[in-house]
Amino acid sequence: MTDAIKWFHSLDLNGEVMPGIRPADVLETEAEAIFSHSVKGKSVLDIGAWDGFFSFEAERRGAKRVLSTDHFCWSGPGWGTKAGYDHAHQRLSSRCESLDVDVFDLDPEKLGKFDVVLFLGVLYHLTNPYDGLRKAADMAGDLLIVETVTAQNRNEQAVLQYYENDSLDGDPTNFFAPNTKALAGMLREIGFPNVEVIPNPAVESPAAKTPAAEKRKWFGNRAAGQEKHVDRARHIAFAWR
Ligand SMILES: C[S@@+](CC[C@H](N)C(=O)[O-])C[C@H]1O[C@@H](n2cnc3c(N)ncnc32)[C@H](O)[C@@H]1O
Repeated sequence: MTDAIKWFHSLDLNGEVMPGIRPADVLETEAEAIFSHSVKGKSVLDIGAWDGFFSFEAERRGAKRVLSTDHFCWSGPGWGTKAGYDHAHQRLSSRCESLDVDVFDLDPEKLGKFDVVLFLGVLYHLTNPYDGLRKAADMAGDLLIVETVTAQNRNEQAVLQYYENDSLDGDPTNFFAPNTKALAGMLREIGFPNVEVIPNPAVESPAAKTPAAEKRKWFGNRAAGQEKHVDRARHIAFAWR
């Protein structure tokens, strides 16, 4: 049955690793950074969960409740489906809850707020990133964690880089990358006075073991040293109320 599933995350299902596009070592390195502030005993909302790696990881690390949400790659226009998430959920005997809902339809009145909101790898897919960030922020009671492509980090102004058509990694669903100043500024403006932005160690660390070809697939021409994207990176922002 797993042969029919197109995996995005390389999920370890009790010793058997699913052949996802995102390599297991990259995900593990990223998870160490994402969960550097403990989720033990916390409620966690994972927006754009796809196959659920970060949801299952939050559960494994002791979150008291996890809600996984997605739409674009579960039942929307994306190439993914929810089959991987559902299969993993069963194999892991997970207690994570799931809801098929778009970022812009998230409603704290209906769903309540969560101690920790994960907004990982979603921001640059949105045509209106600032409103998307606000929607994620509305759901966060304490901590919002944003992982994103960043660009123009040497620019002294706070800017968003726009990518026409598929000019970011050949993916026409990529639109905007903020620089770290814009990312931190937007987060402060929408209610998080304490913001910490760190490089995504899965990209930046020399210890990241991802093969060059995989890196290029995921992190674009920056890995190949092409001038066009030379000032590009990926960062993780932790934003506290
Ligand atoms: C790159 S994947 C990231 C998945 C996971 N959070 C991670 O970090 O590995 C992007 C996610 O954003 C979701 N998404 C939400 N709105 C989207 C949109 N308008 N275009 C593309 N993807 C979108 C997709 O369904 C997908 O799950």
